[in-house]
Amino acid sequence: MLELVALISGAGSNLRALLEAAEDAEYPARVVAIGADRDADGLELGETFGIPTFSVPYSRFADRESWGAALSEQIRPWSPDLLVLSGLMRILPPSMVREFGPNIINTHPAYLPEFPGAHAVRDALAAGAAETGASVILVDDGVDSGPILAQERVPVLPGDTEARLHDRIKPVERRLLIGTILDIANGTIDLQELSRA
Ligand code: GRF
Repeated sequence: MLELVALISGAGSNLRALLEAAEDAEYPARVVAIGADRDADGLELGETFGIPTFSVPYSRFADRESWGAALSEQIRPWSPDLLVLSGLMRILPPSMVREFGPNIINTHPAYLPEFPGAHAVRDALAAGAAETGASVILVDDGVDSGPILAQERVPVLPGDTEARLHDRIKPVERRLLIGTILDIANGTIDLQELSRA
């Protein structure tokens, strides 16, 4: 049974899907703690699913490294098998990637390496892309640059707004996230090996 610590910044709809999947006794992973970089709405999921939560507001720190050091202190006691960034709108500092890597995965609402960064859905629309997608990646020191673990295309439809397109991408993200964690748990995906490649 993989023990996960999940990190969020927002509503946590991806995390909710993972928590619901983990309610199935057959699912080989469970979330042991939920963390956030602000007072995120998704922290309420901790109460709903009976999981401890913590918040390390980025705004209270002088820089990314000192924020990362405080966040690592909250994560370390759980000694997670896997750190899951499910809607965390922050780049982890190198010290955290060194400490918890390569057991760190992230979901991204684009078909990487297309449209990396914080505005992926908006960027796809602005580029006039006919299709975009969703990706789950292994987190490295770069911005959405790690090995791709799973991804799928999503069409951009006429009249799409950022919100509408994002709402079409998220169900794909959730399915890829739940499937990727399953593949890591059963050894189909070897993060150590991928991080060496
Ligand atoms: C997801 O699309 C994630 O990839 C992106 O932000 C969104 C978060 O959604 N970084 P939620 O908080 O899980 O609803």
